[in-house]
Amino acid sequence: MKIFITGASGFIGGSIAAHLVRAGHHVRGLIRKPEHSAELQRLGIEPVIGTLDDRALLIAEAQAADAVINAASSDHEGAVKALIEGLAGSGKPFLHTSGSSIVGDASGGEAGIGANGARIYHEDALPEPTADKAPRVAIDQLVLNAAQQNIRAAVLCNTLIYGHGAVAGSASVQLPRLVRQAQKSGVVRHVGSGGNVWSNVHIDDVAELYRLALEKTPAGTFYFVESGEASFRDMSAAIARAMKLGEPQDWPLAEAQKEWGYEMASYGLGSNSRVRGERARSLLGWQPKRTSVIDWIEHDMLAAGKTS
Ligand SMILES: NC(=O)c1ccc[n+]([C@@H]2O[C@H](COP(=O)([O-])OP(=O)(O)OC[C@H]3O[C@@H](n4cnc5c(N)ncnc54)[C@H](OP(=O)(O)O)[C@@H]3O)[C@@H](O)[C@H]2O)c1
Repeated sequence: MKIFITGASGFIGGSIAAHLVRAGHHVRGLIRKPEHSAELQRLGIEPVIGTLDDRALLIAEAQAADAVINAASSDHEGAVKALIEGLAGSGKPFLHTSGSSIVGDASGGEAGIGANGARIYHEDALPEPTADKAPRVAIDQLVLNAAQQNIRAAVLCNTLIYGHGAVAGSASVQLPRLVRQAQKSGVVRHVGSGGNVWSNVHIDDVAELYRLALEKTPAGTFYFVESGEASFRDMSAAIARAMKLGEPQDWPLAEAQKEWGYEMASYGLGSNSRVRGERARSLLGWQPKRTSVIDWIEHDMLAAGKTS
């Protein structure tokens, strides 16, 4: 299959692209910095230089490909509209990458109220988004609605992704920020008491799920992508053990926002985002191989000096 993917120099996009190349597909990957070309070529990915704002380029690439994956951004509406325009009427697969902070409760790093902690969300009963997350959810809906234009469109709503990316120097969003803060200060810190819980998944399992979805997803399907969950307190304790540092410390939200910014401190690191992804297993036969982020942090995170 000829596949066009955005975000090919990034953590998610580069890892999916490399996996698809290994599976025998021909992959063209969008990058905005020409200096990333050599790394893509090393992985067997054909570089396409451009940005998400290059509407005509995105339409042309979508028309020329057999399938399209948008992995550069969960939040760029213009790129999604252009890719849909290029694919309209084709019946081709279009996989869009979203993120499960859309159900984040911005609890300031605390576990949710209730005997079993924060609410768990399922794919068939999504909540109304908060004002902060409404634009991302609207883009997801745009993708799902593209099924009505004869596009085999699906939203893969990823949780906290861990693991090492295929592209050298790429890194995931959440855990590397905790690690970098700890490297800088010598103390691992989490938002609030760190009782907040996130569902999570290993990047290799994510890449395999995208491959399966290209082959089999029904049009207009929303997937949560997860294979386990952990509290930030447990993840930061595992980081402290791996880095041979002392006990992790609680950090008031306001202090955390100074380090990580409003969005990352409130949602990426300070919310609960607990979801269950039944459809990847039932519709696509996905069987994730890694189910413990704590195991990965303790045994693999610092392997070969990598921190993603
Ligand atoms: N990692 C996770 O755990 C996770 C989970 C759920 C959702 N997400 C979301 O998924 C998206 C990708 O995440 P990631 O972890 O792969 O991030 P990443 O490593 O920063 O990768 C993003 C890639 O997209 C490219 N890109 C960004 N904006 C672009 C633009 N305007 N034009 C062209 N290329 C552009 C970047 O290019 P440059 O190399 O030039 O910067 C980079 O290669 C993000 O929106 C993220 O919030 C991530």
